[in-house]
This record gives sequence, structure tokens and C-alpha cells, in this order.
Amino acid sequence: MVKVSPSVLTADFLTLSDSIKKLEDAGVDMLHLDVMDGIFVPNISFGNPIIKSIKAHTNLPLDVHLMIDRPHRYIEEFAKYADLLGFHYEAGSDNAELLKKIRELGCKSCITIKPATAAEEIFPLLPLCDMVLVMSVEPGFGGQKFMPESLPKVTALKEEIARRGLNVEIEIDGGINKETAPLAAEAGATVLVAGSYVFNGDDMCERVKYIKSL
Ligand code: DX5
Ligand code: ZN
Repeated sequence: MVKVSPSVLTADFLTLSDSIKKLEDAGVDMLHLDVMDGIFVPNISFGNPIIKSIKAHTNLPLDVHLMIDRPHRYIEEFAKYADLLGFHYEAGSDNAELLKKIRELGCKSCITIKPATAAEEIFPLLPLCDMVLVMSVEPGFGGQKFMPESLPKVTALKEEIARRGLNVEIEIDGGINKETAPLAAEAGATVLVAGSYVFNGDDMCERVKYIKSL
């Protein structure tokens, strides 16, 4: 059974606590929080004050996806409220050092790759990761179209993780919906991020349950 990590990026932030209650009732596994700095990606979202407020409202694990330049500058700050803390391979930090640091700070570690980055580039880092995140859209915005080229990358990671007997979740993020969720699960993704699909439907609960049933 796959896990669901709804991205709150497309939610109404003034009614976020109601939405989080509904997501808890629907049985989501964690909440995906997209932090964007307007430099690493061409969009600005929210920072740690919002994450701190969310942490005070829910017991769900917080899956923080940093889309920021040189993330080592802020890792201690985000580790205060994150349960799973991920950053981009391409963002200009010492990736191995940063993964180790995240674990030392008591969070689960995750490295994320953009669509143009080959899965093989992060193979050497797998022992330092609790999760890897494969982007299935260019990071920066919700509501984009799923890139099927991401699927072979998920499968390559799944095979490498199995071959080395590692325990690493594989998350996929971007364009997940009724049609693409089964493809992602079949390719080997174990955690599916879904933003607009979950938040723009009439019944969040039904959509979460559908993904979890895959
Ligand atoms: C995009 C973000 C995603 C986004 C997903 O940069 O990382 O988490 O919110 O949104 P959907 O599911 O609408 O593609
Ligand atoms: Zn994300």
C-alpha cells in the first residue's frame, strides 16, 4: 500500500486547519510542505513560521520539501519542526554532509532530484537517505502536467535500493492524479505527493482513499 503526502501548496491558507483535520480523518500518512525561495525555483511560497503553526495543529509527520538555494544555510531552522527534511541535489550544498546533518538533528533525511537529473547520480548517497524524492514536474508550481520520463527513474532507484538491501522510501511529486497515481505506484514509488488533485476535488477523503488503495 502506498503512502499519501498531500501538498498544501494549493490549499486556502486561512482555512488550513480545517483542511488538515479532514486530511487526518481521511488517513493521510504525512503532510508535504513546499518551501520555495524565488531563487532556486521561480516562485515564493512560505517559510518556517507557517510550518511551526502547522506543527502545533497536527500530529501528522511533516514532510518538508526545500526548494531553496544552498539549503545548508537553513537546515537547523527547518529541522526544528520537520519530521522528514528534504532538499535538492542541484541546490549547491555538500549533499552527503547535509544528509548526515539532517539525521544528526533528529529528522529523517531526503534528497530530491529535478527532472533533468539522472537517478544514478544519487546512488552513492542512498545509504544516507531515509527517502528519495523524484520530481515528476519542474519544481516551483502546483497543478502542472505529470512527466512520464520520471517513471523509469523511480524504477531504477527501486532496483538499486533492493539490490543493496537498503531501507529507503521513494517519493514522487508533481502531477499526481487519478490516472498517474497508479503508474507511479507500479513503477515503485512508495510515497505519493498530491496537491491539486486532493485539494481541488469535491471530496478530499475519497481522493486520498483512492491513492492509498493502490
Ligand atoms: C512543486 C511542488 C509540489 C506541488 C505538487 O514544485 O513540489 O509538491 O505542490 O502539486 P500538484 O500535485 O498539483 O502537481
Ligand atoms: Zn513538493
